[in-house]
Amino acid sequence: MERMSDDPTRVQEFFSARAAGWDARFPDDGPAYAASVAALGLRPGGRVLDAGCGTGRALAPLRAAVGPSGAVLGADLTPAMLDAAVGAGRDREGQLLLTDVSRLPLRAGVLDAVFGAGLISHLPHPAENLRELARVVRPDGVLALFHPIGRAALAARQGRQITPEDLRAEPNLRPLLARSGWRMTSYVDEDSRFLALAVRAS
Ligand SMILES: C[S@@+](CC[C@H](N)C(=O)[O-])C[C@H]1O[C@@H](n2cnc3c(N)ncnc32)[C@H](O)[C@@H]1O
Repeated sequence: MERMSDDPTRVQEFFSARAAGWDARFPDDGPAYAASVAALGLRPGGRVLDAGCGTGRALAPLRAAVGPSGAVLGADLTPAMLDAAVGAGRDREGQLLLTDVSRLPLRAGVLDAVFGAGLISHLPHPAENLRELARVVRPDGVLALFHPIGRAALAARQGRQITPEDLRAEPNLRPLLARSGWRMTSYVDEDSRFLALAVRAS
């Protein structure tokens, strides 16, 4: 079965149609983003990528974590989502890159961490794409895969059932990360948030 994530153009069309109203749909998510960014353990001067940053909802807490001497990058392949980020002034918090996270224009090992909110289910080749994220992170750097709603609550909102094949189910995600250069260190899937943390294997 073909999935939307197999075709970047369909991903762009899907999110272009939703970009203008994206933030208004989820007005209460700010504290969950801030708490999940805190779990990355970033320090002043750190370097972090928000992969699939969309309208940039995580950029302010990421900037607060690394301070003015740090580097915050936001990468997304949908121009309309980045336009909305600029419209909200979030380009002041980090540098926005119009790019596919499966081919990042970054040198190996330059980052301390990657934050990906609502990203993983859109990746066409999850193992390969997560490996690309590992490539740009230093050994012992950190990955956070976050969603401001848990899997069961999201499925209910979308009127579907969770299937055992769900990539984000712990028995699937742990080996997927291990195959991609990451070691999962923590996993939380509750109604109010999904957060999996992993460390870049050395
Ligand atoms: C569910 S939205 C989440 C946006 C944002 N992270 C947030 O939490 O509000 C997923 C975002 O990932 C982007 N995206 C999907 N696949 C991508 C890829 N391969 N490379 C870069 N961005 C991608 C989409 O354009 C969209 O903006």
